Amino acid sequence: MPSNSILIVDDTPNNIRLLFDVLDNAGFDISVVRNGETALEKLHYIQPDLILLDVMMPGIDGFETCRRIKSNTETRDIPIIFMTALADTEHKVSGLQLGAIDYITKPIQVEEVLARVNLHLNLRNAQIQVQQEAIERKQTEIELRQALVSMQQMQAQLVQSEKMSALGNLVAGIAHEINNPLGFLNGSIRNATENVADLFEHIKLYQQECSEPKDTITEHAEDIDLDYLNEDLPQMFEAMQKATNRIQSISDSLRTFSRGDTQCKVKADLHQGIDSTILILKYRLKANEKRPAIEIITNYGDLPKAQCFPGQLNQVFMNLLANAIDALEESNKELSYKEIEANPNKIIVNTFIEENFIKISIADNGKGISEEVKGKIFNHLFTTKAVGKGTGLGLSIARQIIVEKHNGNLEVNSEIDRGTEFIISIPI
Ligand SMILES: Nc1ncnc2c1ncn2[C@@H]1O[C@H](COP(=O)(O)OP(=O)(O)OP(=O)(O)O)[C@@H](O)[C@H]1O
Ligand SMILES: [Mg+2]
Repeated sequence: MPSNSILIVDDTPNNIRLLFDVLDNAGFDISVVRNGETALEKLHYIQPDLILLDVMMPGIDGFETCRRIKSNTETRDIPIIFMTALADTEHKVSGLQLGAIDYITKPIQVEEVLARVNLHLNLRNAQIQVQQEAIERKQTEIELRQALVSMQQMQAQLVQSEKMSALGNLVAGIAHEINNPLGFLNGSIRNATENVADLFEHIKLYQQECSEPKDTITEHAEDIDLDYLNEDLPQMFEAMQKATNRIQSISDSLRTFSRGDTQCKVKADLHQGIDSTILILKYRLKANEKRPAIEIITNYGDLPKAQCFPGQLNQVFMNLLANAIDALEESNKELSYKEIEANPNKIIVNTFIEENFIKISIADNGKGISEEVKGKIFNHLFTTKAVGKGTGLGLSIARQIIVEKHNGNLEVNSEIDRGTEFIISIPI
């Protein structure tokens, strides 16, 4: 431990000499100044562990010097011992009232000086140690609290990504199971269309060759409306074919959405990802008794395939679109069906290229975000939604995926009651 330092403030050469000898011999670092002003100046650049301060000095006296030292936050904790004449009780009291810790009477007694100086330096060192320990304890407490928060965040994120991957597996499983019966249906409808066409061809031949059919046959043909069937059945088969094609494209979209994420980036069509996400959210867009359907408008630019983690980007599209729907529903709460119809709910997705970045903008005309909330929306676990409705993870995960995994950017523009736009930028 370095030796303690002491500042002596005194104008009497004999005193200075005596004090210097005693304290220097005892191993302390000594500095000496001859008046209050110089002492105050010196304290700008040295921080002694103790000050021995004479009361009677030319210029500002010891009391004023003491008052100024105690009123400066930088120096007020340095213990001060006054040096005053034996009989001077009034001085002693004034000094202690000003914040001095002790006094030494003049003429100076060597043992007394050493004893008091040692006592107060020990006290001071103990005090500093306690303060240091308190600071360290506080620091440990802060670190512990931070560790707890980041553990909670990690846990919440784990739950979220487990949910996403469980959803992904479920969706992929369903899409897979749908595929076999769908293949069968597709083939059967194609065959049945040809077979039915053959049958009608055959009936036509009969009609041509047997121009005088029995009554039972004519009546039955009327009962089943044979002419109508002839016209309608092919159309019905065509519609069935269209419906199975539609199921096929839904199943393809589900598989696109849930594609297991690769270890490294792959080239993917982002429009496919957006379309499949919209499809999965379709049930939330439909009209209900409180509002007409939410319209999604996609204006797709001519984008190259992006080098990316497609499953993770789908998760971002999902979070942004789900937030847009939430914001629209929130703003609808105060409006009647008619008012909503007059200014319909819209989500507009634009994609384009700008300065070597693929940009995807997702904008809604929902309730917007206030300036105060805007600063917090990307924070982990920040949500304005009711308990059970929002966890406050969507945007922080989205930002992490875009910024950290894709070296991109996620920005927000919003105006209260007008709407919100999120812009994803990914380098090409
Ligand atoms: N399109 C938007 N319009 C208005 N406010 C939004 C929009 N998107 C996000 N916000 C605000 O940002 C907050 C944080 O969004 P974030 O997606 O991170 O969490 P959340 O939607 O509340 O919950 P979670 O997504 O975890 O279910 C929301 O609670 C909401 O206040
Ligand atoms: Mg969200």
